[in-house]
Amino acid sequence: TLVRSVDFVAGAVSMETLPTRMLPEVCFIGRSNVGKSSLLNMVCNRKDLAYVSKRPGKTQQFNYFLVNDKTKSAFYMVDVPGVGYAKVPLAEKSKWASFFESYLAQRSSLKVVFHLIDSRHGPLAQDLMTMEAMRASLRPGVQYVIILTKADKKDGKVSPSLKQQVADALDAHQLKETTPVLVTSAVNRLGRDEVWRYLRLAVIK
Ligand code: GTP
Ligand code: MG
Repeated sequence: TLVRSVDFVAGAVSMETLPTRMLPEVCFIGRSNVGKSSLLNMVCNRKDLAYVSKRPGKTQQFNYFLVNDKTKSAFYMVDVPGVGYAKVPLAEKSKWASFFESYLAQRSSLKVVFHLIDSRHGPLAQDLMTMEAMRASLRPGVQYVIILTKADKKDGKVSPSLKQQVADALDAHQLKETTPVLVTSAVNRLGRDEVWRYLRLAVIK
């Protein structure tokens, strides 16, 4: 699929500051350093669209990227920080968590949630909290997709036991056992077509 243009258009910090121009949107959520920005760059064929941060936890806002503006398949990709359950004051964390839950429950243009998990670590405490937010708040009908990132560090192979850990975590949160689990690498572009298969859900009406 061709990405003709992609532009950073907004950094939202609350429901009130989300873009008012409604287009279909997909979001990428995951712990700091899991590879969100790198994956966005990979799927857009860009080098440094989403600034790849060397310092963990830099992105604190929902970063909106508008893809293919002025075409009938325009949509937003949203880079959502898995806010520092570390290094952020408690008040800020709970504000962020309630924004995230409202977003999952109320953003009617949301089509797909991609939840990135590091393939070296499997689901960590913060990932389980994200799954709990999905269970509790995600609007019915929104496609939820797990992405295991940095697979090049595992020679492109993700062990059956890691896949089982993901399946068990999904099961523990009453999330569908049919939730797709994709494997990607931003280094060698593994999994790009599979990600696009779900991105297309946002584009094709
Ligand atoms: P924050 O913006 O801090 O939340 O991080 P992020 O989730 O956007 O991660 P980012 O894309 O900045 O990547 C974090 C680090 O992991 C960088 O040093 C990347 O180069 C590296 N990285 C990301 N994806 C991959 C991958 O697929 N393979 C390898 N080997 N490294 C990766
Ligand atoms: Mg980032």
